[in-house]
Amino acid sequence: MTEDSIRQYLRTKQFGRRTHAFESIDSTNNKAKSLALEGAEEGTLIIADEQTAGRGRLGRTWQSERGKNLTFSLIVRPTLPPDRLGLLSLTAGLAIAQAVKILLNLSPDCKWPNDVLLDGKKFCGILSEAVLQQRTLLAAIIGAGVNVNQTKFSPELQPTATSLSIEVGHDVNREEVLAAILLRLEHFYGILLSGDSKVILSQWRRSSMMFRKRITVNQQGRTIMGTASALDDDGGLILLVDGKKQKLLAGDVTIVH
Ligand code: BTN
Repeated sequence: MTEDSIRQYLRTKQFGRRTHAFESIDSTNNKAKSLALEGAEEGTLIIADEQTAGRGRLGRTWQSERGKNLTFSLIVRPTLPPDRLGLLSLTAGLAIAQAVKILLNLSPDCKWPNDVLLDGKKFCGILSEAVLQQRTLLAAIIGAGVNVNQTKFSPELQPTATSLSIEVGHDVNREEVLAAILLRLEHFYGILLSGDSKVILSQWRRSSMMFRKRITVNQQGRTIMGTASALDDDGGLILLVDGKKQKLLAGDVTIVH
């Protein structure tokens, strides 16, 4: 993918208008961080056909077959208090879910805190990171891995991973998916900055199947079981555990069947 091939599909005002496209890079989030520190403007996109050290949440790696998917990072400079940064991941997940729904007529499901699923399987993961300088927020990086045309996954991922092409039954144009995502993301990011995060939280909630269901949340070895009840104003998950509300800020969710 190149800056030119992306530009043909782009309909945004700012997101992706400045693009750094790489055939191969360690991690687009790493590159985005260093560009943010060098002063890159809001909406700068870093995208790669291959990542040699793609990172996932909780210290995991992100595997993605070269040239098949989308692995990108967007630099934003939000005027948000640091304790509201969790909202950025939710915003990105919602934007990706809606873009895929509009473009491919699929019904994605947002899974807290930042996965997007199709048919109960993950096709998208998001890793948002803060870029701090002397404890002030200089920028935030929204990193996303979207499985677009990959059809085979490693044995450990095979049972839980999917891609857009698997779900629609044919190859999908990566640039078109990217452009649709950036357009929705720019839209929701504007809403977030205008202080209307309730709109994002309520739409996210409607795009998720986990509410009112029994779930377990794994937090670095500790497992909590409860009923997913609501999203808090900062994007935290409110869980009902033995009738008492408990708020969670991170963890891996599994729906109990
Ligand atoms: C997760 O599900 O654990 C989050 C995965 C995030 C992967 C993306 S791919 C582009 C960007 N660069 C990285 O190194 N990670 C994110």
